[in-house]
Amino acid sequence: MNEHVSLPVPAEEATQRPNSRKVFIKTYGCQMNVYDSVRMGDALASEGYVTTEEMADADLVLLNTCHIREKAADKVYSALGRLREMKKTRAAEGREFMIGVTGCVAQAEGEEIVRREPAVDVVIGPQTYHRLPQALKSARTGRRVVDTEYAVEDKFEHLPKAEKAATRARGVTSFLTVQEGCDKFCTFCVVPYTRGSEVSRPLAQILDEAHRLVDAGVREITLLGQNVNAWRSEGPDGREWSLGDLLYRLADVPGLARLRYTTSHPRDMDDKLIEAHRDLRSLMPYLHLPVQAGSDRILKSMNRRHTAAEYLRLIERIRTARPDIAMSGDFIVGFPGETDADFEDTLRLVEEVGYASAYSFKYSTRPGTPGAELGDQVPEDVKSERLERLQALLLKQQADFAKSCVGKVIDLLLEKPGRMPGQVIGRSPWLQSVNVDAKTSQIGDIIPVRIIGTGPNSLFAEPAERLMRA
Ligand code: SAH
Ligand code: SF4
Ligand code: F3S
Repeated sequence: MNEHVSLPVPAEEATQRPNSRKVFIKTYGCQMNVYDSVRMGDALASEGYVTTEEMADADLVLLNTCHIREKAADKVYSALGRLREMKKTRAAEGREFMIGVTGCVAQAEGEEIVRREPAVDVVIGPQTYHRLPQALKSARTGRRVVDTEYAVEDKFEHLPKAEKAATRARGVTSFLTVQEGCDKFCTFCVVPYTRGSEVSRPLAQILDEAHRLVDAGVREITLLGQNVNAWRSEGPDGREWSLGDLLYRLADVPGLARLRYTTSHPRDMDDKLIEAHRDLRSLMPYLHLPVQAGSDRILKSMNRRHTAAEYLRLIERIRTARPDIAMSGDFIVGFPGETDADFEDTLRLVEEVGYASAYSFKYSTRPGTPGAELGDQVPEDVKSERLERLQALLLKQQADFAKSCVGKVIDLLLEKPGRMPGQVIGRSPWLQSVNVDAKTSQIGDIIPVRIIGTGPNSLFAEPAERLMRA
C-alpha cells in the first residue's frame, strides 16, 4: 500500500458519532462500478456506516469513478472541487467529512489526485476496495492512503457478504461480477490499464453468491465482466468451464427466473454460449455485442481482431439459435484515420444488423493508449457530424423495434413502483422498461402483459389474462 502523511484530523472529530456514520456513494461509468459500489457499501456497513441518498447528510463521500473518456474523468475533478468546499464548512462546524476516490480514475491517476485535490482522504483502485475500512481508519488518524496495487489476495474473499435484508432492499434484479479485467488491448481503451488483466471468479464463489441473491428474493441476475464471455473456471467435472457452461448451471438454480450477461467481445462468443441461447428459456433474448466500427481498416487499427463480415456472420449464427434475440452494441466515431468511406461502412453495418438499442461515442484520446500515438486525428466537428448521423439511425432502429412489440403478449418481470399510483415498472425480455397497471405487492412476479403503446424511453402494457408467447 502506498501511503503518505497529511495533516492530522483532530482527535475529537475522529471519535465523534462512531456508530452512525453515513456514506454517500456516487457511481460513474459501467455496471461493474455499480456492482462495486454495492460491495463497498456492504464493506462499510460492517464498520457501522449506513448509506444515504443525500450528499448533504453524509460523513463520507465516495466517488466511484470512470476513466473511459476524457469527459468522464473531468467530472471527477469538478465534483471534488465542490466536495472541498463542503469539507471546509463541515470543519468549521467541527464535524467529520471524509472524501474518497475509488474506481478507474483512482487506479489511473493515483497520487496525482491528491496533488490536484489535497482535500481527498483516500484513493483506492478497483482491485483493493476491500481495504477501504482500514484505509479510512488510517486516514482518520492523519495517514492519507493511496492504494492502487493489484492485490494478490482475492478481494471477493475478503469482502463481507451482504445481509439478507440489505440485498432484499435492493430489489428483484441484481448484478453479479464473474470476471474482471481485459487482455484485448483495443487501441482506444484504458480498461486493460485500469482494471488489469483478465481474471475469472471461481465457479463455487459465483454459485454461492447467486444462491444468496435468490434467497433474498432476487429473480434476475446479470453476470458482469469487462469481457464476461472470456470467463473460465474449472468445473466439477474437472473440465474447463466457459460462460455457456456457467449459464446452463445457473439455469438450474430454483427461483432464479432470468439470466443476462454483459459485456461480451465478439471473439469470445463460443459455440457453447450460442447453444445456451438456443436451449435456455431463462437466458433472456438480448445480447450486447459491441463492434465499434464497420470498416475493416479501422477495426484492424483498433485491434479488434475481427472483420465486419465475421461479426455479421456471428450474429447470423446467434439469430439462427435464438430468432427473437435483440441486438445491442457500442460504436465509436472519429477514430484516428476514419474517412467518410469508413464511416459509411459503419452505417451500412448498422443497417444490416438492425439494433434494438445501442450506445455511440465520439472517439476520446486517452493518454497512454496506442490510439493516442496515432496521427491523422479526426477534427471535432467531423466527429460531431458523424455521431449525429449514426445516432439518428440507431434511434430510429430502437423506435422501430419498440413499435414492433406493440400488440405482443410478453412476460414482464415487475421490478419497482411506477410514477403513478397503481402502476408498476417492469422489464421486457429485451430489457425495455414497461409501465403496467399492477399492485406493488406483485413486485418480483413475472406476469403476462400485452404491449399497447410506446413512449420515448419505455413501453406501455396492460395485464393479459393468458400467457401467450410473443
Ligand atoms: N469491454 C467492453 C467495453 C468497455 S468500455 C467491450 O469490449 O465492448 C464501453 C464502451 O466505451 C466501448 O465499447 C467503447 O465503445 C467506448 N469507449 C471505450 N474507449 C473509448 C474512447 N477512448 N473513446 C470513446 N469511446 C470509448
Ligand atoms: Fe476495452 Fe477492448 Fe477490452 Fe473492451 S475488449 S474493455 S473495448 S480493450
Ligand atoms: Fe469506466 Fe472503468 Fe467501467 S473506465 S467503463 S468504470 S471499467
